[in-house]
Amino acid sequence: MAFSKRLFAACAALLFGALAHAAPLDNPISPGFNYGSQKVRGVNLGGWLVLEPWITPSLFDATNNPNIVDEWTFGQLQDRDRATSVLRNHWNTWITESDFAAIAAAGLNHVRIPIGFWAFDVSGGEPYIQGQLPYLQNAVGWARNHGIKVIVDLHGAPGSQNGFDNSGHKVPSPQWHTNQNNINRTKNIISQLASMFAGQSDVVTVIAPLNEPAGFVGQSMLDVVRQFWYDSYGTIRFPFGTSQQSNTLVLLHDAFQPLSYWKGFQTPPQWQGVAMDTHIYQMFSQAEVSRSNQQHIQNACSRTDLGTFDLWVIVGEWTPAATDCAKYLNGRGVGARYDGSYPGSSRVGSCNGLTGSASTFSSDYKTFLRQYWEAQTSTYEKAAGWIQWTWKAEIADEWSYQAGLKNGWIPQNPTQRQFPNICG
Ligand SMILES: *[C@@H]1O[C@H](CO)[C@@H](O)[C@H](O)[C@H]1NC(C)=O
Repeated sequence: MAFSKRLFAACAALLFGALAHAAPLDNPISPGFNYGSQKVRGVNLGGWLVLEPWITPSLFDATNNPNIVDEWTFGQLQDRDRATSVLRNHWNTWITESDFAAIAAAGLNHVRIPIGFWAFDVSGGEPYIQGQLPYLQNAVGWARNHGIKVIVDLHGAPGSQNGFDNSGHKVPSPQWHTNQNNINRTKNIISQLASMFAGQSDVVTVIAPLNEPAGFVGQSMLDVVRQFWYDSYGTIRFPFGTSQQSNTLVLLHDAFQPLSYWKGFQTPPQWQGVAMDTHIYQMFSQAEVSRSNQQHIQNACSRTDLGTFDLWVIVGEWTPAATDCAKYLNGRGVGARYDGSYPGSSRVGSCNGLTGSASTFSSDYKTFLRQYWEAQTSTYEKAAGWIQWTWKAEIADEWSYQAGLKNGWIPQNPTQRQFPNICG
């Protein structure tokens, strides 16, 4: 307790200097989902409030401009009225309340909803089109109606925290961490999110303050990320301006570091309500894309470290897809390592029948998808649980939870097993 008081004082000093001598923590934390005993089973609502070329290639192809490769250029390089009406139509139709009904009917208990900084703030002169925020707020109401918990995930930060197109702006090297104004703007958004949802912690159980910061850049990024996690803890866990803790969990991302890097970071009892997010993909390197089906499954099964870490670990992104064949997965106009069309890659095989419509998938392939799905969910449930990327994709059924349900490689009840011994 004494330590907690000091900790609170430190946070309060950071946040509200005048409150540095506020009362001690008095309420035990009571999250809106029992993360210690129930398993997170969920899907990401990818490609909705943050565009991704590979999830909705039609929106990009329809621009007839190959330089439109992300949401930034989507706003920048075409008529703004047209871009605005296309985006509005997309926000209105890609995800609706009926998706939440279907997600609940599939036995899932969580959605993770990516949102970009530009929904809040384009004061840096960014060319983004705004209007996403009311959709996020509506989605929280739909989640409530259907008994689904929401992880609100800041997926893009000013300057880009990873340079990926899914951060909003595809850039050769991330700039977020190089400029204090970028960091200040991001902190301000986390503060807005924390106060927006603090009163709805029974539905918005978790805020993830930054998706996939590029720890692989090096120490300069990791130093900024660590400080940002400290600041986000104060903001999300103490949104009331008092010593009262919220029930909202903070979900940190591992910044592409091994879990061992984060050992002891923000752990209880000194820190309360912190969980760790890790993303597991096996197709973004030549070595991974070259693995046999059996090796993909074995690699998934080998992740026993997830269940023994000192924070709850949620695998917040993963997929039963085993190749990078999906159109635009590596970026609009960029090819795939699997078939050798990615610069510098060496061909493993043809992408035919491995991506696109499930009607082209062989029964052997669908059996593999089921095995790999079960291997992953069984392993990730040894930790706090899993959130598949992603609920829908226009023409990449191997990634789509919806298509998996429809075509049988994902069970109607996520606890069903056809291969209960897949991990031996
Ligand atoms: C960032 O915020 C801090 C604290 O409010 C302030 O002192 C600093 O001037 C800000 N920096 C920039 C570049 O906006």
